Amino acid sequence: MSTVNKAGLEDVVVSTSDICFIDGREGRLLYRGYNVDDLAAQSTFEEVAYLLWFGALPTRKELDAFVKTLSSTANRKLPPKLIAMLRVLPKKTTPMEVLRTGVSALSAWDPDAADNSREASLRKAMRLTAQMPTLVAAWERVRRGKAPIAPNPRLSLAANFLYMLSGKKPTELAARTFDVALILHADHEFNASTFAARVTAATLSDMHSAITAAIGALKGPLHGGANEQVMLMVEKIKDPAKAEAWIRKAIADKARIMGFGHRVYRVEDPRAKHLRRLASELGKQVGDESSLEILNTVARVMTEEKHIYPNVDLFSGAAYKAMNIPTDQFTPIFAISRVAGWAAHVLEQHGNNRLIRPRSEYTGSTRATYVPIAQR
Ligand code: COA
Repeated sequence: MSTVNKAGLEDVVVSTSDICFIDGREGRLLYRGYNVDDLAAQSTFEEVAYLLWFGALPTRKELDAFVKTLSSTANRKLPPKLIAMLRVLPKKTTPMEVLRTGVSALSAWDPDAADNSREASLRKAMRLTAQMPTLVAAWERVRRGKAPIAPNPRLSLAANFLYMLSGKKPTELAARTFDVALILHADHEFNASTFAARVTAATLSDMHSAITAAIGALKGPLHGGANEQVMLMVEKIKDPAKAEAWIRKAIADKARIMGFGHRVYRVEDPRAKHLRRLASELGKQVGDESSLEILNTVARVMTEEKHIYPNVDLFSGAAYKAMNIPTDQFTPIFAISRVAGWAAHVLEQHGNNRLIRPRSEYTGSTRATYVPIAQR
């Protein structure tokens, strides 16, 4: 039995996969061989979901048919009883708790729930990818005492989400920015949530169970929860003029700064530059670039002093903030994109499955003598 000598499975290769490649030294990220920089510049989230699930870029005809199904009201709408369920949840329930609960509940209404064939799992992947934005937006409305807004099948997944959140069609810049953010978050190899999805799928459990497990893993602040923590840091710093002193003190106090560092990247995360640019463009449009100014100062000092670089979570929040999206919705937004990657990994796992069941190195006692309870 081989022993893992680095904690947290660092650098341990646990499986082969054709889906995603990360070069942590060069700062390169590929989905199915395509550089994420090219996808962010030229693709759409829908096209990327197709690429992740089917392994190749679609033709125009294939993409049109795919988008039509993915954006159909039949796939995007929530069962009315699920919306009734949302209404009975305490208003303080966090959006990630609601998403985790709602995705799990959706299987109760899914016609393919018990079918793990590739065709059925693809239909479930399609439905979950279509339903999750509706669920996230519906909770935002319900917790504010407003009625959920029905999805608009003529809008892209990105534009429709922003529309269901606010009731207004987004500007072109906001819709494109959001779409690019979704592209950039769609997959990332064997990160914690994807691994959770694959471990679940490897027991031959179903798509909804795997995605629910992944949402639970994404919620933590060391993973998807970091983007929300970044914005809380920006709100604490408040004034760009105070950012440098704040971060220098945080470094001196040995604080962990959210939005920095990565298990795989030794350079800046290749996704960060896109989000920095988009946050800047949106900030200019709304006339408030203070969040970005704060983040740029924090990034400069972290890089100079600690040689720890921005990850994907540093700049996404500044872009979402400029779109007026509440901070605690940032991690659910990560999930409505990453579901595309999670589903691709579930499909791949089911396509060539073996139970994932590692060992631990036992460090406990082997000589305990049982003492009956009356004598303890
Ligand atoms: N702020 C301050 N120091 C950090 C840091 C951060 N964000 N990330 C890593 N470090 C430092 C650690 O203190 C540690 O220093 P030490 O060796 O002197 O003790 C060293 O870098 C290695 O950190 P470690 O936590 O062992 O790395 P990891 O690979 O286990 O963790 C993360 C990776 C992502 C969990 C970690 O970088 C982190 O906590 N980042 C902040 C949360 C975040 O943004 N998560 C989103 C990731 S996309």
